[in-house]
Amino acid sequence: MKKLLYITASTKPESSSVSKQAGRDFLTRFHARHSDYETEELDLYGVDLPEPDYRFYSGWCELVSGPEYDALNETDRHSVDEMNRLCAQFQAADAYVIAAPMWSMSFPSRLKQYLDCIMLNQRLIRLSPNGVDGLLDDKEREMLYIQSSGGVYPKLIDWKFNYGVNYCHDLFKRLGVKHFYKVLIQGTDMTDIGPAKALACSQQDFCEVLEKFCGCIQ
Ligand SMILES: Cc1cc2nc3c(=O)[nH]c(=O)nc-3n(C[C@H](O)[C@H](O)[C@H](O)COP(=O)(O)O)c2cc1C
Repeated sequence: MKKLLYITASTKPESSSVSKQAGRDFLTRFHARHSDYETEELDLYGVDLPEPDYRFYSGWCELVSGPEYDALNETDRHSVDEMNRLCAQFQAADAYVIAAPMWSMSFPSRLKQYLDCIMLNQRLIRLSPNGVDGLLDDKEREMLYIQSSGGVYPKLIDWKFNYGVNYCHDLFKRLGVKHFYKVLIQGTDMTDIGPAKALACSQQDFCEVLEKFCGCIQ
């Protein structure tokens, strides 16, 4: 079985979160086509996410082990274990779906905290005197970023406002994830649009992504 990692970053329960509802709908339709995938779900506001601390690292982006690990107290050892586990989970996936709201023109801070937790040397990246190489190009991987936003950002200039989407695109590309798709659900907080209409307007984009997503992974 191939693995799809579904990451959500809204503080709301699914019943009232636009991004989570869109993500769930996409997954249901995706699984109807791809029975060879199993999904692991990670709700970033539903887990106790470690706060990466300098004491957890033995070098730049390498987690402590051996005597350095043993010297930590139980809570800190648990944080290191959790960072190791989250990184391994991410590494093992073939495809990613991230569903997040736009917050202050980016994404909620938990998503950044999560990315900081998993960005480990010799695991997702390799640090060398020449720079940083991504290590996720060992197999075909794909990524879909679903963003819901209160406002509407016209297509011609949306690249200027979607910092969160652009950041994830650049980061994942750098890591070696070959295919990136996005669906923007816009206007959820505008009186003339609202959640239902915003979701309805994004259906065409979802259908187009569904045609392509994971088509490249054999
Ligand atoms: C703290 C906060 C910051 C927000 N910042 C923006 C913003 O910069 N631009 C925007 O269009 N909407 C912004 N919104 C509105 C949300 O993006 C919008 O309500 C979204 O649909 C929520 O998705 P969810 O229901 O999945 O949580 C913000 C909402 C909150 C709570």
